[in-house]
Amino acid sequence: KIAATAVAISFMAGGAAFAACDSGEIVIKFSHVTNTDKHPKGIAASLLQERVNNEMNGKACMEVYPNSSLYDDDKVLEAMLLGDVQLAAPSLSKFEKFTKKFRVFDLPFLFENVAAVDRFQASETGQALLDSMQKRGLQGLAYWHNGMKQFSANKPLLLPEDAKGLKFRVQPSDVLVAQMEALGANPQKMAFSEVYGALQTGVVDGQENTWSNIYGQKFFEVQDGSTETNHGIIDYLVVTSAEWWAGLDDDVRTQLKTILDEVTADRNGDSSKVNEEAKEAIIAAGGVVRQLTPEQRAAWVEAMKPVWAKFEGDIGADIIAAAQASNA
Ligand code: LMR
Repeated sequence: KIAATAVAISFMAGGAAFAACDSGEIVIKFSHVTNTDKHPKGIAASLLQERVNNEMNGKACMEVYPNSSLYDDDKVLEAMLLGDVQLAAPSLSKFEKFTKKFRVFDLPFLFENVAAVDRFQASETGQALLDSMQKRGLQGLAYWHNGMKQFSANKPLLLPEDAKGLKFRVQPSDVLVAQMEALGANPQKMAFSEVYGALQTGVVDGQENTWSNIYGQKFFEVQDGSTETNHGIIDYLVVTSAEWWAGLDDDVRTQLKTILDEVTADRNGDSSKVNEEAKEAIIAAGGVVRQLTPEQRAAWVEAMKPVWAKFEGDIGADIIAAAQASNA
């Protein structure tokens, strides 16, 4: 790896930093869309890369491509099925073409906090969802936390009526489309990498995301402010090709999965803190963060309530009940 330093430095300028892989090593390309600093996914992916490259040197080599530098979320799963990338961690809202069961994660005001999401994912129902796309060629390996979603817009949002008539960027999820329609807003599906420009130029008026994404993508710079609604979640599925995964030697698969599980436990425990720090960084940079009174929050809950019934058939009442039970 003597020539690796020069390669690593040149890649660092482009946002990715990794040592060149040696011949004979299994190359694991990991493509994701967020920044690497003050971001639960960015930090976890970098740690995974570091550990795999240290502990599996000679056997496997990981190259992480952050910031949509290799693929957008709408392309990465197709690329994975073609064998062009081996790992990704798209948000759970981005699997619509593969399963409707994941819609449970997008239901507004279902999970009270990230601890509840964690309990649901660890449950039998949550673990079974990891295997739910095998027939479509995808194998879920782990859930990674980001955190609770907040709304931002080019005007203050304190009551659901404030969102009426505004254009909102949403992830490619029909639940999120229905959620915005329930508010009388106009949802527009759009890739993550395009959101900043769309907010800046007025193609859309607002968006929903976690503090780490609002900070990392600088959305707060081109919005009037954000409102702490905690109305939903953004979490990730670390996912691979079922065929590629099954084709690995047992010892390689086991070691990789052990490292992934350790990184997952380590970083998931810190995700709320990372989002809290991102929120503080937004405020420190002059971004406006508004709080809701209990009455205002109740009005948002009420406005979005009709969304659940619409998707109960797709998701399954049993899965929704299991998710609700995780709030206890
Ligand atoms: C989004 O598209 O808003 C998020 O899924 C991006 C991400 O990966 O956190």
